[in-house]
Amino acid sequence: MNDHKQPKEDEMNIIEMQYPNLDDFKAEGLILDIGGGGEGIIGQMKGKLVIAIDKSKRELEEAPSDNLKIVMDATDLQFLDNSFETVTAFFTLMYMLEETREKTFKEVFRVLKPGGRFLIWDVIIPEMDEEEKKKSYVVPIEVKLQDKTIKTGYGVRRPAQDKEYYKKLAKKTDFNLLVESEKDLIYYLEFQKK
Ligand SMILES: C[S@@+](CC[C@H](N)C(=O)[O-])C[C@H]1O[C@@H](n2cnc3c(N)ncnc32)[C@H](O)[C@@H]1O
Repeated sequence: MNDHKQPKEDEMNIIEMQYPNLDDFKAEGLILDIGGGGEGIIGQMKGKLVIAIDKSKRELEEAPSDNLKIVMDATDLQFLDNSFETVTAFFTLMYMLEETREKTFKEVFRVLKPGGRFLIWDVIIPEMDEEEKKKSYVVPIEVKLQDKTIKTGYGVRRPAQDKEYYKKLAKKTDFNLLVESEKDLIYYLEFQKK
């Protein structure tokens, strides 16, 4: 579980186990992984091809993979324009407020090369009433990598989000939609910089 202050059982809304499909994706050059602390799943999958950035040093220190890790805020990326072919966000956008999500999309667009792709795996967070909003929304996941299966959980108190929300945000940022799919409460989106 990635929230360090563990909420009590009655302060959590734990949804059913989700099983994201994490097929080995093709990527040219280095991959920038946004919010790559915690389990650092993309780092575990792609190893030294990954530069993981996270605003939390502790989350990066805890990530078990041995790729390069840098403390950095996704809303203020310290890379030049047109630096990467591939940027990933694996259950990271769910941890952000709406304004942060918007700024992150702009920054990802900026650091991607033309034709570069932004790959997102995330979960539906439904609109909630005031009582429900006080609880942590906890998403248990089980993900299969080539050589192992990882079970973890991501818990947040954050605004609603779904696939359509990110498609709108991507359009506003000038991304093209390349791929979309969903499975139970999780979705995969792939956007391309024109
Ligand atoms: C728990 S992780 C998500 C899962 C992680 N990608 C993995 O593979 O396990 C979410 C991370 O996003 C980070 N994060 C949230 N907002 C951020 C921001 N504005 N910039 C950088 N990292 C951010 C959090 O610090 C947290 O470590």
